[in-house]
Amino acid sequence: MGCNMSREHILVVDDEQGMLQVLEKLLTGHGYRVSLAGDGQGALETVGRKIPDLILADIKMPIMDGMIFLEEVKKVAPQIPVIMMTGFGAIETAVRAMKLGAYDYINKPFDIDEILMVIDKALEKKRLEEENFVLRRELQRSYTFKDIISRNKEMGGIFEVIKSLSGSQSTALVVGETGTGKELVARAIHDLRCHNEKPFVPVDCGAFSTALLESELFGHVKGSFPGADRDKPGLFEAAMGGTVFLDQIGNVSSDIQARLLRVLEDRAIKRFGDTQARDVNFCLIAAANEDLEAAVNDGRFRKDLYYRLNVVAIDLPPLRKRKEDIPLLVDHFINKFNRLERKAIECASEDVINIMMRYDWPGNVRELENLIHHAVVVKKTSVIHPKDLPAKMGVIVTAEQRGDISRATDFNEAKQQAVASFEKRYLIEALKQYSGNVSKVASAIGLDRRNLQRKFKQYRIAPKDFVPKKGPTPF
Ligand SMILES: Nc1ncnc2c1ncn2[C@@H]1O[C@H](COP(=O)(O)OP(=O)(O)OP(=O)(O)O)[C@@H](O)[C@H]1O
Ligand SMILES: [Mg+2]
Repeated sequence: MGCNMSREHILVVDDEQGMLQVLEKLLTGHGYRVSLAGDGQGALETVGRKIPDLILADIKMPIMDGMIFLEEVKKVAPQIPVIMMTGFGAIETAVRAMKLGAYDYINKPFDIDEILMVIDKALEKKRLEEENFVLRRELQRSYTFKDIISRNKEMGGIFEVIKSLSGSQSTALVVGETGTGKELVARAIHDLRCHNEKPFVPVDCGAFSTALLESELFGHVKGSFPGADRDKPGLFEAAMGGTVFLDQIGNVSSDIQARLLRVLEDRAIKRFGDTQARDVNFCLIAAANEDLEAAVNDGRFRKDLYYRLNVVAIDLPPLRKRKEDIPLLVDHFINKFNRLERKAIECASEDVINIMMRYDWPGNVRELENLIHHAVVVKKTSVIHPKDLPAKMGVIVTAEQRGDISRATDFNEAKQQAVASFEKRYLIEALKQYSGNVSKVASAIGLDRRNLQRKFKQYRIAPKDFVPKKGPTPF
């Protein structure tokens, strides 16, 4: 056995003073650091003060028996390997110790080589476990980039693009369906570039009239129009070297498109009513829900502006095309809302994840986030179950999943349950097909409206959940 250079710390517990001395000499002689304890109680105190790498404990001790000591150690520090020393022939006790979580046992009187070998193996295993733990954390970390969670390959490529933007002032265009994380990406780019030192200025271009948006972006001077009672700098000026995030860029009028092009070319703005141009310094990130190229082809968006914005393009895939992210996001949002709402939800059940994997997520990550938020707020128990999900996800909660089926369920009852489950699924499919229009569903499936409404109520289905959300007005 070679010399141990890492000086791992071994705690030896035995009520026999002579045995402690022998082991101390042996182990220090092989390069280990050694602590000694004459009984279980004292040993536990040592463990509490400085966690050893390994414990060698006698089984038969007064005050605190070795078995009880083992149980206590497993409670406070389960990762420490414990090797038990048993009297010769006490095989039953040894087996019991293994069941309680001992790493191994050796018979007294022991062979020196044997005890050194067992210790060496135990420490080696512990080292490997620790390495694995670190590795797993590394792996988990690589799924997260500036609050953006993903293990999807395409998203990994996007992480690289974001990183590459940190050293440049380049304009970027982020495209993706609603809720895919466009603003999150824009903020990540900004963070990398400006380290929180300069403002991030989001502007929702879809939320303003042309006149108002113009005043927001470029500002005005006092007296330039009735009600302009003071000078107002525009948001390009307010950015002061930070980032202007133009959300829903596809919605801006041709007037503003022209002015944006000028700002990007001149890096100067003129407030409304002002005679002087002012230099401005900003990075521009634009976002659109749709492919702007189509808008360019239709003549709704200036081609020259499009090329100015599209220097670096980031195209966020919808959640349904990266379903491998769903379990990660579920965990992430459970943690987030546990903290926010002071709750302690542990996880979503496997059934929930399976249902989510089959769902299409028209509202993408935001829809998932809202769903988990809702579940965390209303849950009283620690696990999210299928019955906690909205009906539009096509959840069929079986009586079994609700936990109310008894094995002795009689035929009629079982049949009723099956019929209910079928009806629910059938109605959900019909609602999907007719986009939540109850009259159309009624005439299509041959049930009258009143009957249908009653069933919706019975199964807690909300037809409005199936009405497609109006997206922002297309360009
Ligand atoms: N990959 C992700 N990891 C963690 N959270 C995410 C991810 N993508 C989106 N989110 C979260 O989902 C929500 C919606 O994201 P965000 O506002 O960036 O979407 P968006 O694309 O700008 O949507 P919209 O087009 O509707 O404005 C935010 O709370 C965001 O933090
Ligand atoms: Mg947004």
